[in-house]
Amino acid sequence: MNDAYLLIEQSKYLEGTLEVSGAKNAALPLMAATILTEEPCIIRNVPNLLDIKNMIELLSDMGKRIILENSTLYIEGPILNKETREDIVRKMRASVLVMGPLIARYKSGKVSMPGGCSIGARPIDQHLKAAKRMGVNIDIEQGFINLNATYLNPIDFRFDMITVTGTENVFCMLSTVEQESFVRNIALEPEVINLVEALKQMGVFIEIDKPNRTASIKGTRYLKGFDIEVIPDRIEAGTFMVLALATGSKIKIVNLDVNHIESVLEKLEIAGAKIDILSPDSVLVYPKSEKINPLYIETLEYPGFPTDMQAQFMSLLSMADGESTIVENIFENRFQHAQELARMGACITIHSKTAYVKGVKHLKGAEVFSTDLRASAGLVVAGLMAEGKSIIRNIYHLDRGYDHIEQKLEKIGAKIKRINP
Ligand code: EPZ
Repeated sequence: MNDAYLLIEQSKYLEGTLEVSGAKNAALPLMAATILTEEPCIIRNVPNLLDIKNMIELLSDMGKRIILENSTLYIEGPILNKETREDIVRKMRASVLVMGPLIARYKSGKVSMPGGCSIGARPIDQHLKAAKRMGVNIDIEQGFINLNATYLNPIDFRFDMITVTGTENVFCMLSTVEQESFVRNIALEPEVINLVEALKQMGVFIEIDKPNRTASIKGTRYLKGFDIEVIPDRIEAGTFMVLALATGSKIKIVNLDVNHIESVLEKLEIAGAKIDILSPDSVLVYPKSEKINPLYIETLEYPGFPTDMQAQFMSLLSMADGESTIVENIFENRFQHAQELARMGACITIHSKTAYVKGVKHLKGAEVFSTDLRASAGLVVAGLMAEGKSIIRNIYHLDRGYDHIEQKLEKIGAKIKRINP
């Protein structure tokens, strides 16, 4: 499976409709939250991705009964085994999301330490700091985190930095603590809010003060099941929009939530895209002219410009009419796609967390290697822009976050094929 690759040829002036799938980073915490109850939980609009399959395997291995039917997950039953499978955690960092629910419901668990990944060390010190504050004993040995607690205290906790899965884990940890807790400097990503909705259905009282990034939480001893719809994947939607501008195409994008990607829409319009909002869940994107305007981009926590869109914009801007600046504030090593783009003729220099992208007239097809999930999407965009043929290897990264992107793009006329030698 690992030696499959994508064969892409320059594809311009495409026309058609692209459908956005459910958000991976919303579905994963929702699946982990089912650990909090034995009652049936229903999760709708689940994307068909490798990471979802991994989480299904992880939870089944822990005892959950799971059925996946037409993008809907039915999950119920008790946890019989509180130890996560190391092989799954190694390949999917998001497995750390089972830690919070295990603490809340079983006050014990054994979670394998998530490895870093190519975009950074990605420690979980904040998750553990909050757990300790609640009275959880944490013992790390042989790459495993052994958790146990007799009693969970309410906390007034401030994150040292904004962390998406850290926020999600702490909300779950507190969901059975009846006294009121306060969590400060929380992440406000739409995926976090999707999880909050489910926790409220389970019986948790959560109030989010968005301007102050503060949550007040009152849990309950017995949590009920939930029935929730996964929000659309704002990063897949943004990737399709970048692709429309990058290839001079007129593309209708449906099943998205325009309110979740305001910062991306704003940058795309400055870069030269016309974005007609047809309804709250559909847009028509096309270029105002042949020119792509250079941009200044800083990645920030939501609602700022998403780090998960950085690679896609770097590909787009590699053929802009001028020099762009991209500052990556979230991860310490998230410019690896730059060297792959350089193999296609892009002109990018990097100084610590800033990339300077000097637009060139043409990119030339080349053989490139994906390094992480979103970088591979950026390489697909570049492959469609570049003259001639490109080969993208290590596309298992792509399959983690995009539901067979080549099938969706082929339907609107893109020359892109998955080759399984
Ligand atoms: C989530 O990762 C997403 N994953 C990421 O998507 C996304 O890029 C990231 O948020 C930022 O938006 C999921 O939701 C499953 P963070 P997460 O904790 O939660 C540092 C994908 O595959 N940090 O918000 O792991 C950390 O190193 C991924 O779709 C600590 O230092 O990211 C990073 O520099 C790519 N200590 C920054 O904070 C901690 O305890 C933000 O990380 C936690 C985080």
